[in-house]
Amino acid sequence: MGKSQSINRVDGIAKVTGTATYAAEHQTKGLVYGFLVGSTIAKGRIKTIDTKKAEWAPGVVAVLTYLNAPKIPGYQTGKDPSKPATAGQPLRIFYDNEIFYYDQPIAMVIADTFERGRHAAMLIKATYTKAEHQTNLEEHLDQAKTPTGPRFEDYTRGEADAYKNGVVTISHEYVQPIEIHNPMELASIIASWEGEDKVSVFTKTQGVESTRRSIVDAFKLKPEQVSVKAEYIGGAFGMGLRTWPYEIAAVMAAKKVGKPVKLVLHREQMFTNVGSRPITIQKMGLGATKDGKLTGLTHEAIAQTSTYEEFTEATVNISRFMYACPNVTTRYKLVKLDTCTPIWMRGPGEATGAFALESAMDEMAHALQMDPIEFRLVNHADADQEKNIPWSSKYLKECYEMGADHIGWKNRKMEPGTLKDGDWLTGYGMGTGSFGAFRGEASVKARLQADGSLVLECSVNDMGPGTATMMTAIASKEMDLSPDKITIKMGSTGLPPGPTQGGSTTTSTVGSAVVEACTALKAKKETAAKGEVLEVTVTSKGGDEAKKFSMYSFSVHFVKLQVHPATGRIKLNHVVSCADAGTIINEKTAAGQMSGGAVGGIGMALMEDLIIDHRYGRPINNNLADYHVPVNADIPKMEVFFVNKKDPYTNPMGSKGLGEISLVGMAPAIANAVFNATGKRIRNLPITPDKLIS
Ligand code: MOS
Repeated sequence: MGKSQSINRVDGIAKVTGTATYAAEHQTKGLVYGFLVGSTIAKGRIKTIDTKKAEWAPGVVAVLTYLNAPKIPGYQTGKDPSKPATAGQPLRIFYDNEIFYYDQPIAMVIADTFERGRHAAMLIKATYTKAEHQTNLEEHLDQAKTPTGPRFEDYTRGEADAYKNGVVTISHEYVQPIEIHNPMELASIIASWEGEDKVSVFTKTQGVESTRRSIVDAFKLKPEQVSVKAEYIGGAFGMGLRTWPYEIAAVMAAKKVGKPVKLVLHREQMFTNVGSRPITIQKMGLGATKDGKLTGLTHEAIAQTSTYEEFTEATVNISRFMYACPNVTTRYKLVKLDTCTPIWMRGPGEATGAFALESAMDEMAHALQMDPIEFRLVNHADADQEKNIPWSSKYLKECYEMGADHIGWKNRKMEPGTLKDGDWLTGYGMGTGSFGAFRGEASVKARLQADGSLVLECSVNDMGPGTATMMTAIASKEMDLSPDKITIKMGSTGLPPGPTQGGSTTTSTVGSAVVEACTALKAKKETAAKGEVLEVTVTSKGGDEAKKFSMYSFSVHFVKLQVHPATGRIKLNHVVSCADAGTIINEKTAAGQMSGGAVGGIGMALMEDLIIDHRYGRPINNNLADYHVPVNADIPKMEVFFVNKKDPYTNPMGSKGLGEISLVGMAPAIANAVFNATGKRIRNLPITPDKLIS
């Protein structure tokens, strides 16, 4: 399917004209407004909390603290009073006086307007018994522990740490700081109870079904007593992959005051209460022969989790399969810090891991005096050596070729710092990305109406990539129906259950169900009378293919940039992102997805860095003025190219995911280009000017 056949975003006009309704915008009768007050210490206990002035302030309906919060049944189970309120489970908001991180909610004011709620919140005074906190990962590496679960165990293929025996070896440490998702839409919820045992919420989540499960668990309700709607999401990048304490707090507050409660976090709370990409320190060791064959690869990572939950991601796993190598060792460990639990952020651990792996590959290519693409081709993995099975499909070599061609790779100089353009130094870099091509389970209802129009229903929602557009494009092709005859109903429990949007799986999972529903409709149509309404509901999931074939998407990002040596300024000139993501369903939205992720990678490489003042355990740049993300002026000419070849095994469309590979590999491509331009290897992100002039 070429560009010409792409359809426009079906919800594009609604989104840009303001008629798309986001969680906090729903008009609800009798609404009152919540405002959260956060702890000013990072660890310890609340000694006293004085809410009197707040309660007397104009417009205040109630003030909720641990002293008067309703007892949530799900918080009480299995509780040993001698254990911390939160041991290995989500933070129990307003449960007791214990503080686990800076800005943890200690109170919620509920008022008749947002402004009166905010004013009253300022009147609350708390005192604390402080305990010694730890927020600095680098100071506590001795506490690092391997998390539970088979994916995270130490891994050895061949001989452990064999890189040390390489004819040529390199060994370096790479650091990636805490990054914050910063979606444009703030975390928000409106919660309304109907009587004692029915609750409905509009909330910002990437999965209405999983949010419903969390509310069901917390309040011990039946699924049919909880309704969750999240039709439109203003970005999320992973922060909507779980239910956060603020959401439970709003449901709790609505019950307490007997009115619908709207709670919207303010921007600073987005930096402290809804997760982050965890700070991760990685060590890479590579050994190779003189002609560039990898003989050993060791990838170790130590990352942050919270004290109350174990957050894990596949940071080192990418090194097990990306390149052909007989001896591979990976180790992954966590240190508990007094912060909010991290959460997957676009590309998640693979993006972090690829920064180390792809930087190290570039360092080794340089040590060998080999072209970085040539070095990767020499070590191309023709099969998955971790699982010991063939790939379902892999067109990575095509990506190298396309990208090299479009970026002008032939102009790259092997010797860094030698390509000059006036005062500027020019460099070229590239980085490879990969992410599992998973498929989950989804149900879709399809109704072909008497007028020939089609309605598709699924509870899946969309944080931006264009789920409804994808469903429309697939159904349009399957039913040979114009896209404007197709309506998508989604983003609400009560519809046939779809997956959480995450892990680059939505198209594979939901698209397959759309194909199957359309196939069933077509079969029905053959025997139906003219004008008869036809309806089918299918539930679809993959079979054994994923056991027989290793399924991954692949990307290669290419960067041309310039560095001004006197000031350390970096000017991106050109970005080319290439992907093997199987069949491309709708090139226009796919290309938008791909360049959007690459922009995230630019932020990761050059700007994003949440700085914590470890004396107080609190962030100091928790706002969008001081925490930098790329803006339009930072973005150069960006091009996206797809191999667009069908994978025979992933799903009926032959597609593989795009959401993560759009970012994975981008940050090292930039770091490698900076090295090529200047001869300076920056191993701690972000690559800010100060690091280039020192
Ligand atoms: Mo994505 S990090 O699975 O939202």
